This record gives sequence, structure tokens and C-alpha cells, in this order.
Amino acid sequence: MITLSIIKADTGGFVGHTAVHPRLMAEARREIERAKSSGLLIDGHADSCGDDISLIMTHTYGQEAGLIHSFAWDTFQATTHLAKELGLYGAGQDLLSDAFSGNLRGMGPGYAELEFEERPSEPVLCFLADKTEPGAWNLPLYKMFADPSNTAGLVIDEKMHAGFAFEVYDLYEERRIVFDCPADLYDMLMYIGAPARYVIHGVRSKTLGMTAAATSTQRLSLIAGKYVGKDDPVMIVRCQSGLPAVGEALEPFAFAYSVAGCMRGSHHAPLMPVATGQAHPSRFDGPPRVVALGFQIKDGRLIGPRDMFDDPAFDGARRQAVEVMDYLRRHGPFEPHRLPLEDLEYTTMTSITKRLAHRWTPITTEVATPVGS
Ligand code: 13P
Ligand code: 13P
Ligand code: MG
Ligand code: MG
Ligand code: MG
Ligand code: MG
Repeated sequence: MITLSIIKADTGGFVGHTAVHPRLMAEARREIERAKSSGLLIDGHADSCGDDISLIMTHTYGQEAGLIHSFAWDTFQATTHLAKELGLYGAGQDLLSDAFSGNLRGMGPGYAELEFEERPSEPVLCFLADKTEPGAWNLPLYKMFADPSNTAGLVIDEKMHAGFAFEVYDLYEERRIVFDCPADLYDMLMYIGAPARYVIHGVRSKTLGMTAAATSTQRLSLIAGKYVGKDDPVMIVRCQSGLPAVGEALEPFAFAYSVAGCMRGSHHAPLMPVATGQAHPSRFDGPPRVVALGFQIKDGRLIGPRDMFDDPAFDGARRQAVEVMDYLRRHGPFEPHRLPLEDLEYTTMTSITKRLAHRWTPITTEVATPVGS
């Protein structure tokens, strides 16, 4: 068995929240190399989307392994140190705790991990997003694993025909449920259509009994109790041989669907699939970006990455994202561009409510003070 872990954090933005400084990336890559030579990792690759660093690692320690999580924590401490030296924006932004204890649960960094028996050929896609939240993976996972209009294999591949089981987390109540699709599909959509609260954590093949996908499901704003940015999620999808083909796993992103995030984590905006060189959301801190890094895993080694959205076939989605961005921006501070009050990341509403409390009167009483008098 090997484990593929993606562990990510924003440890400082260059410039503002748009990108990771090259020196931080170099530091992360140095740490990965050190961990490979010490034998902790079989292989590793450091990459970024927007201002978030992702450590993509293979190892034999399993999911939520203390050794692997503490390695990531130490690496993010080191990049935070550099970020402070360079005065980068929000240095250490996603490191919410002062000391590491056991694993990264609730400490700020996000992670998606899959432990599996490597197949003779093991194609995997690592999706990294910036300026959005974990629920952003709900729509593409539904399409990949439950929508025959997206995934031809659900109809024509015998090993996919029985469907997939989806594990869904309720981020508000800290509980989970497994939906057996296609039988439970309509029930599941009732929940995952509300991605701020219900988030797909993993997907399993019913025929093969293997886990096919994993997402990061931490939500910083809930963990921290105050705004610290959207969680900028990551996701692993294994492909082919009874799982969605690589092209079926990429296809949902040919539509620039709307996600929550963008400026101040408080707006709906289209998700733009981009090559890694374009993963720097600057206009209104958006539009939110997603990159897909493709690997073949062999004896735990990461053969790759291939920059999967570096394909003109996604130009249409990129154009669509710009158009939708223009359209939504013209709403300014109005919904549906701005998130509904309960999902707003900023807490201004609390202080405004307090300040205006005495000026609210029941509509049934006389007008308080006519405007202008
Ligand atoms: P190739 O014939 O190029 O291997 O394609 C097979 C396939 O299933 C593509 O989805
Ligand atoms: P990040 O979570 O990517 O740092 O974004 C924060 C933000 O407020 C962007 O406007
Ligand atoms: Mg940031
Ligand atoms: Mg970010
Ligand atoms: Mg963030
Ligand atoms: Mg072939």
C-alpha cells in the first residue's frame, strides 16, 4: 500500500494574495528533496495555485500520519519564516496553531490523502484551487462519478456501471453520510447542491471496492472562528480501468461554474481552469483558479507532472469565466455576486448590527424620523 498526500497552506502571498514568491517555492522544494533523501518520502513535488503551496507526496505511512503531517508543518514554518523576512502578505496566514500536536487536523493547513494498492498503471490527477472553498469540488465530483452525460464510462464500462459511493461531510454539524449512487443520487443532490455546508469527502468504486477520489474538507473560517481566507481546497482523483478516464475527470472543468470565494472570500465567481503559469488570480482577487497536475505513479514514484489544463480545449471555459466575471462584477455589493449574509466571511455585519440596533423600530409604529426632516 502507498499513500498519496497533498498538504497545502498559504504561508504568505506575493503580491497581496495573488501568488507564492519563488523563494518560498524553492524552500518547499528543498525540504521535499531532503525528505526524499532521508527516506521519509518515496517521492514528492511542490507546486502552487495562487498564494497556496501544495506538497504532493507519496509515502508508506498511511493517512493522517504524524510523521508526514509534521514534515509539512515544519516546511510551512520554514516558508512562513521566509515570508516574514520578505514582508509577504499574510505571512503564516493558514497556520492557526503555535505548536504541532499529532496531526494537522484543525491546525489550518488543508489536506487530501488516499491510501491504495498501486495498480500496474496508476494515473492520478491532483487538482489545486485558489480563492474558493472545499465544496467547490461537489459539482465536478458529481459529474465525474454520477453523471452519464459527463462520464461515458458510467454507461459503457462494465466496472463503472454499478456506480459509486459518495461520502459527504456536514461541516456545520461535524457528521457524515454515505450516499449509494445512482440509487441515492437525488437525495445526495439535495445536500451537495449546498456546497458551503455539505462537502464530498471521498468517492469509492462499488465494483472495485477502491477509493477513487479524496478532497480536503477543512474549512478555515469555521476552525478559526474568524475570517482567515477561504480554504483553497485540493483534490485527488484516480483514473482509468473502472474509474473515470482522465478526460472524463477533466471534462467538468470545461464549464466555468460558479463558486464561493474570490475577493475577501465573500463573492460568487466563476472557477477558471488554467495552466500553472496562469494560476495567479489578480482581478478582484479572482476569478478563482483551478490547476490539474497529472501523474503516473510507479512504485510510488511520481512520474510527472503534466499540466493538464494547458490545453486550448479549455480556452472556451477561460473565456466564459471572464464573461461571467464581467457580468457578476456589475452587481457590485449586491447578491448573487456578494455571498448571502450567513456565508459572508467578514464580520462587519456584527458591528453594524450593534451600532444600528437602537434605530430599528417595528413597522407597525409611527415613522421614526422622516429622512431629511
Ligand atoms: P486510446 O486508444 O488512445 O488508448 O484511448 C482509449 C480511451 O479509452 C480513451 O478514453
Ligand atoms: P486567500 O485565502 O487566497 O489568502 O484569499 C484571501 C482573500 O481575502 C482574497 O481576497
Ligand atoms: Mg492569502
Ligand atoms: Mg489562497
Ligand atoms: Mg486561503
Ligand atoms: Mg491508449
